[in-house]
Amino acid sequence: MAAARAPLTVLVLAAGKGTRLRSKTIKLLHHVAGRPMVAHVLDAVAGLKPSRTITVVGYQADEVRAALEGRCDDFVLQKEQRGTGHAVLAAARKIKAAGSGPLLIVNGDLPTLHTSTLRRFVAAHRRSKSVLSALTAELDSPAGYGRIVRDDRGEFLRIVEHADASTAERRIREINCGIYCADPTKLLSILRRLRPDNAQGEYYVTDAVHRLLKGGARVSATCHDDADEVLGVNTRAELAQAGATLYARKAEALQDAGVTILDASRTWVDPRARIGADTVLYPDVIVEGETVLGTGCVIRSGCRLVDARLGRNVELRDYSLVFESRLGNDTSVGPFAHVRPGSELQPGSRIGNFVEMKKARLGRGSKANHLTYLGDAEIGDGCNIGAGTITCNYDGKNKHRTTMGKGVFIGSNSQLVAPVKLGDRAYVAAGSTITQDVPAEALGVGRSRQRNIPDWARAKGKRKRKSRK
Ligand code: UD1
Ligand code: CA
Repeated sequence: MAAARAPLTVLVLAAGKGTRLRSKTIKLLHHVAGRPMVAHVLDAVAGLKPSRTITVVGYQADEVRAALEGRCDDFVLQKEQRGTGHAVLAAARKIKAAGSGPLLIVNGDLPTLHTSTLRRFVAAHRRSKSVLSALTAELDSPAGYGRIVRDDRGEFLRIVEHADASTAERRIREINCGIYCADPTKLLSILRRLRPDNAQGEYYVTDAVHRLLKGGARVSATCHDDADEVLGVNTRAELAQAGATLYARKAEALQDAGVTILDASRTWVDPRARIGADTVLYPDVIVEGETVLGTGCVIRSGCRLVDARLGRNVELRDYSLVFESRLGNDTSVGPFAHVRPGSELQPGSRIGNFVEMKKARLGRGSKANHLTYLGDAEIGDGCNIGAGTITCNYDGKNKHRTTMGKGVFIGSNSQLVAPVKLGDRAYVAAGSTITQDVPAEALGVGRSRQRNIPDWARAKGKRKRKSRK
């Protein structure tokens, strides 16, 4: 029987401010593909099913903790951010308590990491019998990263930070990714002896490498072949690049699953979204959050969906927005429509151009084709809402509901002053202001009667001529 593998502990470093973004907000909370970058790191780590995940927080600790709620077993506060080695030491007590199995350390600024890469790296570390392994990558422009210094035979000697590197060392293209696996006891004892004698005056975790080697310990560096995946985000340009990587990955996965994306470089789909086969996404579509689209939908240019649920064969015409709402099978929306949270289009219904909905339900086969506001409204099946209809749901203090039965017909340019109820097959005359309920089958007329003033124009002409004399 194979010996049980010693359980894995993960430490995520998330205390540093990240000054190169020039932001008031800590770097790790900047969003990449719709979520704080550090949340992506915790997701990649979770795939390893470690026995314990600890995150070191410091700068804006409360905000980082809140963003990672439920993704992490434990947090450690690094009160002053004095470097990555100092950050690991801040967690020393909890690392020790977690046991003697390998410790995987991951920088919090690696949003494009795959679980599979970490899994292979940890497995290689276990096989290597090294005290410490570092994951590395080759970059065409390695500026800013720590470089992997090797001897003539290619043996790993040390990591030199960019700020401390000589001109010759700065030419090295192999960089340190900020992902390490180590024997926790031996690493901690080495880190306790670190000194901040470097250009940045910090305690570098990377200094552990040559110190371990000097003490006769074995260290290894494994080069990963996909540099984009291990990109540490330090600048706004890298932030954009990481987002592009995640969106490109998602687009490829969707295309493989039968979704048509006409220009993947101009379409952003959140990695958490799900989209059915034979759905077509035109350029400049943005799908955010946990949006779900059924099969056979057509989403035209400029549309944005946030936490929306679309059934089958839904058409979203150009420049329409859908937030936290449901669009049933065979519905159609837009162009230029705005579906705000809590709305529902039941199967076969449609809204057209310049229609806004908020907490409103449109029944089966109902239509509101032009220039309409439907807020806090319950609209039955088979209704026809004329152009320019407005549900007046707000009296300046409270919101009120408009309720319609089946087959209701609202004439154009009508206002329905809520709270108000319209029974089945009720009609509202065009141009009405409806302030009272309209019973089933009745016609509600809420406008002043028209009167015509004969010869008014001719009389007006005479008045004009007189005034000129
Ligand atoms: C670090 C590595 C560098 C590597 C690069 C990869 C060191 C000394 N250098 O440099 O070799 O090429 O990552 O991206 O480790 N952090 C803390 N507490 C601190 C300082 C940092 O928790 O006191 C956290 C940060 O929040 C971040 C991570 O550690 O998630 C890395 O810090 P960062 O300042 O980005 O390190 P780099 O200078 O990029
Ligand atoms: Ca970094």
